[in-house]
Amino acid sequence: MEIKVFILLSLSLGLILGIVESFEYDEEELKSEEGVQGLYERWRNHHNVEEVSQDEKCHRFNVFKSNVEHVHKTNKMNKPYKLKLNKFATLTNHEFSNTYASSKIKHFQKLQGIEKSNSSSFMYENVSNLPPAIDWRTRNAVTPAKDQLRCGACWAFSTVVAVEGINAIRTGELVSLSEQQLIDCETETNNGCSGGIMEPAFVFLATHGGLATEENYPYTGRRGLCDPSKIVKKTIKINGFEDVPELNEEAIMKAVANQPVSAAIEANGHDFQFYSSGVFNGKCGVDVNHGVAIVGYGVTPEGIKYWIVKNSWGPEWGEDGFVRVLRGGTNVMGMCGINVLTCYPVKTSTSNIPSNHEL
Ligand SMILES: *[C@@H]1O[C@H](CO)[C@@H](O)[C@H](O)[C@H]1NC(C)=O
Ligand SMILES: *[C@@H]1O[C@H](CO)[C@@H](O)[C@H](O)[C@H]1NC(C)=O
Repeated sequence: MEIKVFILLSLSLGLILGIVESFEYDEEELKSEEGVQGLYERWRNHHNVEEVSQDEKCHRFNVFKSNVEHVHKTNKMNKPYKLKLNKFATLTNHEFSNTYASSKIKHFQKLQGIEKSNSSSFMYENVSNLPPAIDWRTRNAVTPAKDQLRCGACWAFSTVVAVEGINAIRTGELVSLSEQQLIDCETETNNGCSGGIMEPAFVFLATHGGLATEENYPYTGRRGLCDPSKIVKKTIKINGFEDVPELNEEAIMKAVANQPVSAAIEANGHDFQFYSSGVFNGKCGVDVNHGVAIVGYGVTPEGIKYWIVKNSWGPEWGEDGFVRVLRGGTNVMGMCGINVLTCYPVKTSTSNIPSNHEL
């Protein structure tokens, strides 16, 4: 008990310090080449960037400089969101896009011939009286944002957020769960660090004994061999999954009002790369290429509706690793395609102990 309280305290202290330590720049620094050079050195120190060759450093400086200009220019505009110089500040948008948002989820789905959950059932279809806002983070159903590192396994992170959520809701216990197990073991339809989708991952968990904890099967950021010895003791069981009816914002709200939901977005835009805070309504298409999860929704005091989306680019990106994405826009596909592919795990039991016939 005391140990738990202590860990919680140090975690929240860490989060507070994290906010204080976020990287800021002064407008003065942008007024001269020397100023930007100084800013670059400061940014490198802040992010503990390894030493590189002089040529590479020079090239990276030019990319950095152009990104600084983009961030600064955008922040001067009257947009409902702000950008910041985060850890992606020396990546061109092309490089960023290739590494962090290249799952081409729809395309992948077609290639693999993956079908939607064939049941027409949507367990939340008759939900009424939707709350005006819900945030599963405040209901102890969402772990702090994780970091996929340079591994394109967003699909595993998206899957895990939804399983962590429904497990916390059903059992009352929030446990951080293993993306690595999915990367190493669900290799039939998904592609480890080279992309994948969430539906087959749910099917895999429902049919292969469940999901290990993060502690027992920790993240390495690389695809490895499936290690059954790590999928022991505590595993989290689910029964299956359901798709939310496609392109139906109200249906997504019904689902999100009941549990965190896996989703996909087009995440490779230049503004999305540097998103810092606010409601994102920047330039993006609907060709979804990145798995995320919707963990709530709400409305700003100014009346702007948003989804609360958990990303997997670490806590430094966005609002402690989360992003608020415009909800209720004019595009039926949703902002950045967020209405295109939403699904969630079904878990009926309030415990994770298999019943006798499952043993
Ligand atoms: C989906 O449902 C239809 C009609 O019930 C059935 O004919 C078809 O085989 C099902 N497909 C899958 C993949 O279960
Ligand atoms: C929703 O209500 C309709 C009409 O009462 C019923 O036929 C349907 O089974 C309900 N759906 C669910 C998921 O409970």
